[in-house]
This record gives sequence, C-alpha cells and structure tokens, in this order.
Amino acid sequence: MAKLKVGILISGRGSNMAALIRAAQAGDYPAEIACVVSNREDAAGLEAARKAGIPTAVISHRGYPDRETFDRDVSAALEKHGVGLVALAGFLRIQSAWFPEHWAERHINIHPSLLPAFPGLHVQQQALDAGVRVSGCTVHFVTPDLDAGPIIAQAAVPVLAGDTEETLSARILRQEHLLYPLVVRWFAEGRIAIADGRVSVRDIPPGATLLFSAEP
Ligand code: GRF
Repeated sequence: MAKLKVGILISGRGSNMAALIRAAQAGDYPAEIACVVSNREDAAGLEAARKAGIPTAVISHRGYPDRETFDRDVSAALEKHGVGLVALAGFLRIQSAWFPEHWAERHINIHPSLLPAFPGLHVQQQALDAGVRVSGCTVHFVTPDLDAGPIIAQAAVPVLAGDTEETLSARILRQEHLLYPLVVRWFAEGRIAIADGRVSVRDIPPGATLLFSAEP
C-alpha cells in the first residue's frame, strides 16, 4: 500500500521533525516524510532534513501582506509534494483560519503540556509556576483556535522538586519524540476518527493514547 505523505512545518531546531524522519526510515513505517517547510531560513532543522535527503522549502513570512497569503503559499508547497498530513513541529507562526480549515482533520500539532492546561508560549514555565506535579505533551488536531483542537494522545511526566524550565522541557521532549511518531503511525493506518470534536483511535490497546514516563 502507498505510504502516507507527511509534510512537516518547522521554525527552529526540529528535534520532533528528526524523530519523525527517523521513524519513517523504518521500512514497515506506514508514512514517509515528503517535505519539510520552514518559515525561517536559519531553522537548524533544515540542515538535518537535507542531510536525510528530504526535500525542503523556505517560505519566509516576511514580505507577505497578510497571514492567509503566506498560508496559501505554504499549502501550495505541501500540495506539490502530495502531502496527506501536515505535522506542525515547532512552527512558530500563528496561522490564518484558512489553513486549518483547508487542512481540516489532516493537520496535527505537538504541544509541550497536557492541554487544555498551559496553551501558548513559555509552556513549561507556566507548569512550574502553577506548581503542577504532572505535565507532559499533547498531540492534537489543529483548528483555528490556538492549541485547542481535538486531542489525539498525550504523554505524562512527573514535575520534580528542583525542576527548571530546561530540565522539565528535556523530560517532556523525550516523550514528544515517542508520541509524535506513534500518532502519525495511527493516522497513516487509518485508525483515527473524529466525531463531535472527540477523537477515537481504533484497534489499539486500551490506554495506548496515554504514555506515562516516571523517568526523572
Ligand atoms: C516542542 O517542545 C514542541 O512541543 C513545541 O515546540 C517545540 C519544538 O521543538 N511545539 P523541536 O523544534 O521539535 O525540537
């Protein structure tokens, strides 16, 4: 069967992108990374994508008159590569409503908190400030409302005494790198359905949409 073509949008380091590329290198993985698009020329992830032989494109948001015109060009670049799923991976541009509507139910994001707690920026610091004992990451469908689309899966980690933004971010990131490839696999296998804004994942073990790591 033809593999699902995934387009990844990045703005920076691209470690989640790299995790998806690595996963897709396995012969039995049901998705391939068709292209990586960055809005920033200096995104470190671009180099890693090129090294892995993945087509890349830089579409700088500067010089665009409005968000939608930029979004339409990004979308055209993805469509040129036959993309069937858009995965945001540290893409730091707020999109116009046009993009998530155009890619509805084919557009996912990873966010470093257990949404709906702590949307937006400085997410791990928000978790530390709130004094929560558990945090983690969430993969969700993207809708026009920021960080608020239907949740597909989450991974939880402890917040430990003495944690800093750096230590907590690193603990969460290790889980991000496991969770994102897992969700993309389920999507490619056609297991994921949305009804009334709620996601169900067919034929996986009970509880598999929640990872938990007690690792410090
Ligand atoms: C990750 O923490 C991701 O959850 C958030 O932005 C960060 C991107 O990191 N959306 P990377 O570029 O994938 O390393």
